[in-house]
Amino acid sequence: MIRANRKFTRVLLLALVVWLFGVVESRSQPTQKRMASTTARDQFVDSLLSIMTLEEKLGQLTQFGWSWHDTARYHTFIKAGKVGSFLNIYGAEPTHVLQRLAVEHSRLGIPLLFALDVIHGFRTIFPVPLAEASSWDPQAVEKSARIAAIEATAAGLHWTFAPMVDIARDPRWGRIVEGSGEDPFLGSVMAAARVRGFQGEDLAADNTMLACAKHFAAYGGAEGGRDYNIVDISERTLREIYLPPFHAAVKAGAVTIMAAFNEIAGIPMHANGYLLNEILRGEWGFDGLVVSDYTGIMELQNHGIGASPAEVGELALRAGVDVDMVSTIYLNDLSDLVRTGKLPMSEVDRAVKRVLQAKFRAGLFDDPYRYSDPQREQTLILNAEHLSAARDMARKSIVLLKNERQVLPLSKEIKTLAVIGPLADDKRAPLGSWAAAGRPEDVVTILQGIRRAVSPKTKVLYAKGCEVEESDRSGFQQAVDVAKMADAAILVLGENADMSGEAASRSTLDLPGLQQELAEAIHATGTPVVGVLMNGRPLSITWLSEHIPALLETWFLGVQMGPAVADVLFGDYNPGGKLPVTFPRSVGQVPIYYNHKNTGRPPGENRFTSKYLDLPSSPLYPFGHGLSYSEFAYSNLQLNSSTMEISDTLKISVEVTNAGGRAGDEVVQLYIRDEAASVTRPVKQLLGFQRIHLSAGERKNPVFMLTAEDLAFYNQGMKWVVEPGSFKVLVGRNSVEVLEARFEVVQ
Ligand code: GLC
Repeated sequence: MIRANRKFTRVLLLALVVWLFGVVESRSQPTQKRMASTTARDQFVDSLLSIMTLEEKLGQLTQFGWSWHDTARYHTFIKAGKVGSFLNIYGAEPTHVLQRLAVEHSRLGIPLLFALDVIHGFRTIFPVPLAEASSWDPQAVEKSARIAAIEATAAGLHWTFAPMVDIARDPRWGRIVEGSGEDPFLGSVMAAARVRGFQGEDLAADNTMLACAKHFAAYGGAEGGRDYNIVDISERTLREIYLPPFHAAVKAGAVTIMAAFNEIAGIPMHANGYLLNEILRGEWGFDGLVVSDYTGIMELQNHGIGASPAEVGELALRAGVDVDMVSTIYLNDLSDLVRTGKLPMSEVDRAVKRVLQAKFRAGLFDDPYRYSDPQREQTLILNAEHLSAARDMARKSIVLLKNERQVLPLSKEIKTLAVIGPLADDKRAPLGSWAAAGRPEDVVTILQGIRRAVSPKTKVLYAKGCEVEESDRSGFQQAVDVAKMADAAILVLGENADMSGEAASRSTLDLPGLQQELAEAIHATGTPVVGVLMNGRPLSITWLSEHIPALLETWFLGVQMGPAVADVLFGDYNPGGKLPVTFPRSVGQVPIYYNHKNTGRPPGENRFTSKYLDLPSSPLYPFGHGLSYSEFAYSNLQLNSSTMEISDTLKISVEVTNAGGRAGDEVVQLYIRDEAASVTRPVKQLLGFQRIHLSAGERKNPVFMLTAEDLAFYNQGMKWVVEPGSFKVLVGRNSVEVLEARFEVVQ
């Protein structure tokens, strides 16, 4: 029951009375359950909508980006019912103040939603999403999102603009760091895991928050890898590559979706009714709300499809964009269109209902102050349990790219160890590009992690060598000197946090600045070198891969970067991560991805085949690549049948043996290839994976179940079909080293 002592306005109580009389429900259920039913929710929302003015409705569709300089102005808007949500304000106390203004000092008392980009942690910052995807461990990724939600909601937040589920095939695009890489299957699994983590089992609980799958759609297809650029792809590529992770997020129950900045084939997403209404809502049955991206509605004028704010506002609302993030066009420019009948009130009401339903589902009409809890904020944020989970996620996200002569793991008793490089003791970079409430002082750097891990007798020498991006060599000599004095050198290289993420496209994938020169100088000392990469995208590290005996890809691992990297360097953790993106030899190969088409002239010895004159056609490191301190042997790939009817399920098993001397994780990957179909199909397609743990010498037989639906694709008529024919099954440790078998799909 709505708590009688809650000071609701007279008008809202009237709406509730209307609603309560309208609700025919058993009196035995507690209100929360009764209110959770869709019928009850709809009736409450309809009754509230019926007493709202046009200005109040347009207010609900308006989201402001909080600025402390505009406090008085925003207070006025709140009391006038002219804002429905805020972005970028958090904290139990400040959100409580604003919520009280809305609930107790506006005519209708409709609670506000508070939103923030909680992408990979709130204050306990976890590895960036591309790193988490490298774990191929959806349970761990779900837990990461769960902890992020627990901390964010303790600070008054209801809504995160995550997960980012954009497929990225071009590492020049800086936002590749925010997603789960190049593959739709892995991307779909991670999207669903993060939605579950953020939203939990009960959206009205005080530690769950609305998820937002973004950026709908195909934002990662930006031409030239240049952020915000046009996307021009076929409907087949759109549906088979870029849409699946969004569909997975919707099926996992994502309550909100964010429209993307880009156009697709001439139609900007913020005015794309085909995608937002016909596919998202029509085909997939999405019943939540769509929020614009930051000033995305206003930017329709830049796209050139509307000459005035009112024109683009009408386009966006009709296309299905419900909430206007920061443009304030809905609030300021639509009322005349509605009053003159050019824009039907029904278009406004449709969007307002979605906003009110989202607030209802978050439990805000039951207790609008439930999330702004100083006590929870004090006890839950950055606690030991969360730090431990962050370290575990970080260790699982590390990919061992190379380990010649078993240089790794190092001994903790090593006599003298040099730690060199511009990122070795950097406290900001490990937080990545979306650091929410994360603080550099919370970060344990790689140097600090190493110092804590080695024995007291070990002498750790440190030299920065150079900056990440500048051209000052004055630190080189010191770096060379410490390398010469050491038994081994850890060389930490890569990118600053702001070189990936939004508006951070690069025209090259080389190590920035003088880092390559530094690497060559340290290598020239003859001291054995271990390379540690800290970066937000695949880099063309061909020289490192040819000259440095051991290489770790660590991405940006968050506050526990140092301990996690040390755990792997010294063997306290056996790395099991795999690449979710292809590593090119050169930016000239881009786009390069594993699930490519064969073409009529696949790369080969013959000159007249599809290849470059100056580079091999293969990548530097393939999708799914990652080594271990163990050796995993694959054998005995078995299918339970060599034929499969449409209604059948094919059982696939393989034997994996840990032939190495230590326990470890292996990500067993299942791909298929449709060898002949009515349209060209990729040379391989990930359709399953399992991260399994094997003790030394242990043998396991992971099983995969494949249905005909898994083999479906869009035919020439864009119908989703399964066609009879020959298929290859490929199972292995990455997308290249696989065992193969064949089966036939029969009519
Ligand atoms: C940014 C990003 C989007 C983010 C939003 C709010 O421009 O494109 O990912 O959620 O604005 O910060």
